[in-house]
Amino acid sequence: MKKSWLIAGLLVAVLAVCGGLALLYHLPLDLRDRSPRQPLAFSHKVHAGDNGIHCLFCHRAAPGSPVAGIPPVSACRSCHLYISPDAPEIVRLMTYWDGREPIPWVRVYSVPDHVYFPHMMHVRAGLDCGQCHGGVAAMDRITRYANLKMGWCMECHRRSRASIDCWTCHK
Ligand code: HEC
Ligand code: HEC
Ligand code: HEC
Ligand code: HEC
Ligand code: HEC
Repeated sequence: MKKSWLIAGLLVAVLAVCGGLALLYHLPLDLRDRSPRQPLAFSHKVHAGDNGIHCLFCHRAAPGSPVAGIPPVSACRSCHLYISPDAPEIVRLMTYWDGREPIPWVRVYSVPDHVYFPHMMHVRAGLDCGQCHGGVAAMDRITRYANLKMGWCMECHRRSRASIDCWTCHK
């Protein structure tokens, strides 16, 4: 008798967790955490700010492709074989390399699948990363700066005389 109650309770708990996860996945962007915790304490302030490493050194795809790209572990390793190799977070970084696993970074900026956003068109038009991403070089952890709503895209497109034709952004 007691055992069946226990099993029923466990089932309810499992269902609740699954339901919660499904809900979280479908939550609109503006209800999600604007500054999610990342799996590793990577700081833009330390890299792009204090040490002046250029944005495009790590996000080198941005001027030539739709995505800006997140650097792979091998890129981190090329510096950290020599820089602070004994710091606990760097030791942890190397376990991803040893296990041949990508770091599961949590995305902060994303648009839905039905929207086409090309970085290269914006970078080539001379826009600064900060116009859409804020003062990243002063952030320890990335905080979302824009709401990424259609109105946000439209407002700037009108202002800068870029296309506001539906098919520009919806393919
Ligand atoms: C040393 C490499 C490095 C440099 C330099 C760097 N970044 Fe990053 N960037 C990363 C990594 C790694 C991530 C993923 C982890 C995170 O979100 O903090 C990231 C994430 C981001 C994100 C969030 C992407 C998302 O949707 O989750 C933005 C925006 C960004 N970088 C912009 C910039 C800008 C702007 C600069 C220059 C001021 C810059 N980065 C310099 C490595 C770098
Ligand atoms: C161009 C060289 C370079 C690259 C590439 C680079 N870093 Fe760094 N990183 C640095 C420097 C410089 C520091 C500051 C070291 C210091 O002040 O002691 C640092 C510091 C750190 C720290 C803090 C270490 C501590 O002392 O606690 C972490 C964590 C870190 N980096 C992670 C990463 C990750 C993850 C990547 C890849 C996305 C990466 N770094 C790519 C140069 C680099
Ligand atoms: C006109 C606004 C705008 C500008 C300018 C811009 N971004 Fe973005 N960025 C976005 C949007 C919107 C997304 C989400 C795109 C998606 O989901 O496909 C994004 C996503 C990202 C990401 C997440 C991963 C990826 O591969 O796309 C990174 C990293 C990033 N931007 C870095 C940069 C850097 C570095 C610059 C400057 C060289 C820059 N961005 C300039 C709007 C912008
Ligand atoms: C800060 C201003 C700004 C914001 C915000 C912005 N854009 Fe743009 N966008 C531009 C400019 C400037 C161009 C380049 C126009 C040109 O070169 O003719 C452009 C070009 C484009 C193009 C290519 C247009 C073409 O004619 O091929 C697409 C697609 C696009 N943007 C989508 C988006 C989407 C989707 C968003 C929102 C998620 C967005 N943009 C947000 C300024 C902006
Ligand atoms: C400059 C880029 C851009 C242009 C131009 C644009 N959209 Fe959008 N649209 C977006 C973005 C980004 C989203 C996703 C964010 C949101 O829902 O606000 C979106 C979302 C939508 C949605 C889904 C809304 C929802 O609730 O899921 C519809 C429908 C839509 N757009 C229709 C249109 C129509 C019709 C036009 C032409 C009059 C148009 N869009 C022009 C960027 C654009």
